[in-house]
Amino acid sequence: MTRTIPSQTLPLPTEADTSALGAKLARLMQAGDCILLEGPVGAGKSHLARAFIRERLGRQEDVPSPSFTLVQVYDAGDVEIWHADLYRLTHPDEVWELGLDEAFGRAICLVEWPDRLGRHLPPGALHLRLAVKGDGRMAHLSGGRDGVLQAVADG
Ligand SMILES: Nc1ncnc2c1ncn2[C@@H]1O[C@H](COP(=O)(O)OP(=O)(O)O)[C@@H](O)[C@H]1O
Ligand SMILES: [Mg+2]
Repeated sequence: MTRTIPSQTLPLPTEADTSALGAKLARLMQAGDCILLEGPVGAGKSHLARAFIRERLGRQEDVPSPSFTLVQVYDAGDVEIWHADLYRLTHPDEVWELGLDEAFGRAICLVEWPDRLGRHLPPGALHLRLAVKGDGRMAHLSGGRDGVLQAVADG
């Protein structure tokens, strides 16, 4: 039976821990899933996304921050991975022009600065908020598809 937990807080003392969380999530996400990566500049959103994409692609892909291109699309064979950084979005309806609305339904989407999505926010997304804590980070996860948070907690 799938158990549901409402939220989870994880300490990430080193950047290797952030990478490990990204890789773990890469093994759990399916087509149509979305992770909303929240937190300030330098929190580790792109770092986590890079580990996610490399794990899912199975190789040490070059994963540039999409801060200027807004989206980078990766072909993971069975599914596309869309990595978005919406910091520079000037209007939520640009989300439509980027093709993100359509991607939410069929790809795996990793979205930095998801507050820019406005009414385009996909329902049922996993919220992953990163915060700086001392030399490390804290991750707070909530929402997402049934069973995903429990699977993260189970290790
Ligand atoms: N758990 C951690 N502890 C310490 N440093 C981390 C941790 N996770 C990531 N970092 C570092 O923090 C920086 C985050 O940069 P980046 O991922 O570009 O941030 P963002 O995309 O949130 O602006 C990187 O230099 C990364 O190595
Ligand atoms: Mg970033």
